[in-house]
Amino acid sequence: MKQNLLSVLDLSVVDLERLMADAARLKTERAEGCCPPLLAGRSLGMIFEKPSTRTRVSFEVGMFELGGHALHLNQGDMQLRRGEAIADTARVLSRYVSAVMIRAYSHATIEEFAAHSTVPVINGLSDLEHPCQILADIFTIRERFGRTDGLVAAWIGDGNNVCNSLVLSAGMTGMEVRIATPTAYAPDPAIIERGRAEGGQIVCARTPEEAVEEADVIFTDTWVSMGSEGEEQARREAFVGYCIDDRLVARATDRAIVMHCLPAHRGEEITDAVLDGPRSAVWDEAENRLHVQKAVLMNLLATFDERTFQQMLE
Ligand code: CP
Repeated sequence: MKQNLLSVLDLSVVDLERLMADAARLKTERAEGCCPPLLAGRSLGMIFEKPSTRTRVSFEVGMFELGGHALHLNQGDMQLRRGEAIADTARVLSRYVSAVMIRAYSHATIEEFAAHSTVPVINGLSDLEHPCQILADIFTIRERFGRTDGLVAAWIGDGNNVCNSLVLSAGMTGMEVRIATPTAYAPDPAIIERGRAEGGQIVCARTPEEAVEEADVIFTDTWVSMGSEGEEQARREAFVGYCIDDRLVARATDRAIVMHCLPAHRGEEITDAVLDGPRSAVWDEAENRLHVQKAVLMNLLATFDERTFQQMLE
């Protein structure tokens, strides 16, 4: 693996397979009450510029279960708030912790942090991507279908960071990805182009109905992501017709599942009936953040240790 996980494109197909296998093993072991302390003595710094429930708790619990420790570092409580450079923060934290997870408004902030960090850095969500989320989503789809290759995934709503990670991972997963968004909220064409260049089959559908036709997986997310709060009214108007309801789900295959990375705005992008209904995979999806991120932490740190050992021998 590479040193950092900033994008799903930092992973090879081999890396993805290893993460999925390790996550499955960790999930089984946990259910059996067995949590080997593979990261004993290790610390994870977790910097948050934005709120979080799932990312914070799953990383923190994950580190605990692996025998390590996680530090919640609210950006507003750090010297970052008073203007300390992100590069200097990265240099200093690298002297204390074994890895850093960072959630930032701008992807450039995470890239800058990683450029000056000497320990592995994980993107815990940026404006561009949410790689940890899409890895948990891929794991969840595999649990339900036994595979991702040959499935059809429909993304309905805002062409946001999770949508970008879905598009960019399509070449690795073999899923056809269909996207239905209002024109003003479509993913950046450069992302679609890159997804296709990576071997992904990406279809820009004209309507949500067209996208979900015979789909196996239906994805949605909030219409008002963190950082877009000033656009609430305009967004709610633009997204009329993009709500995942029973009528839309009925157009998908009989075995189709519905995914949402949460938090959900019930009655906006998804109805209560769908979110709480038999097609919903969202609670497994949320749980799987834990198992997949434990696998990410183990593999990044194992690769880092190996590289450090090799450097010591040189
Ligand atoms: N899906 C997700 O990243 O959730 P949080 O914002 O609660 O971390």
